[in-house]
Amino acid sequence: MGLRARHEEDVPILEAGLYEDVVNTSRATGTPWRPITPGSKDSQFVVDDKEQRNLQFSVVELDGGALVGSASLWGVDDHNRSAHIGLGLLPSSRGKGYGTDVVAVLCHYGFVVRGLRRLQIETLADNAAMLRSAERNGFVREGVLRSSAWVMGEFLDEVLLGLLVQEWRPDPGNQERRPDPEN
Ligand SMILES: CC(C)(COP(=O)(O)OP(=O)(O)OC[C@H]1O[C@@H](n2cnc3c(N)ncnc32)[C@H](O)[C@@H]1OP(=O)(O)O)[C@@H](O)C(=O)NCCC(=O)NCCS
Repeated sequence: MGLRARHEEDVPILEAGLYEDVVNTSRATGTPWRPITPGSKDSQFVVDDKEQRNLQFSVVELDGGALVGSASLWGVDDHNRSAHIGLGLLPSSRGKGYGTDVVAVLCHYGFVVRGLRRLQIETLADNAAMLRSAERNGFVREGVLRSSAWVMGEFLDEVLLGLLVQEWRPDPGNQERRPDPEN
């Protein structure tokens, strides 16, 4: 998978495939779903290029460039050198190994390009695909946030996962670019 900047034409596709699925949005965002007018600047997929702490990418297939989802490195903290990872794939692109690959690319961006030392993922405790995508990349479960998410009429637990740069095992093709954990 590849990550690239958000293009204007991506926005309506991501809104239709991700945002308009009320259950998916309620589960993934931690905020109540509300109707957003098509073309609104309030869409979660409209990017402000001046925003330094919350970076949004579009996920594309390297072969052909088809848009398959959205990914973010958010809460970038250059003092503590940490950030959070978020992602959502269009329904037809789930369950094909893409999520695991996107987490790997975000780790590369966070650790190698940005020099971060800690990446974090929060997800609902029943989101098996997200948990597995994170754990396949070396994230470890650090805790359960009990009843922390109000989702479609019930409180659900969230799992907090973390990965430190010295624990990260990039794929063999990236080994030579692995950062020095002492710096
Ligand atoms: C969560 C998400 C990003 C995962 O990406 P994905 O491409 O579907 O996941 P993958 O195909 O890489 O699968 C990862 C692992 O989870 C497993 N898995 C996938 N879907 C599963 C499911 N519904 N139930 C149980 N396991 C599942 C896969 O078998 C794989 O395990 P393996 O490596 O042992 O074979 C994607 O499903 C998605 O966008 N879901 C909706 C939005 C969302 O939940 N975002 C996360 C919010 S925190």
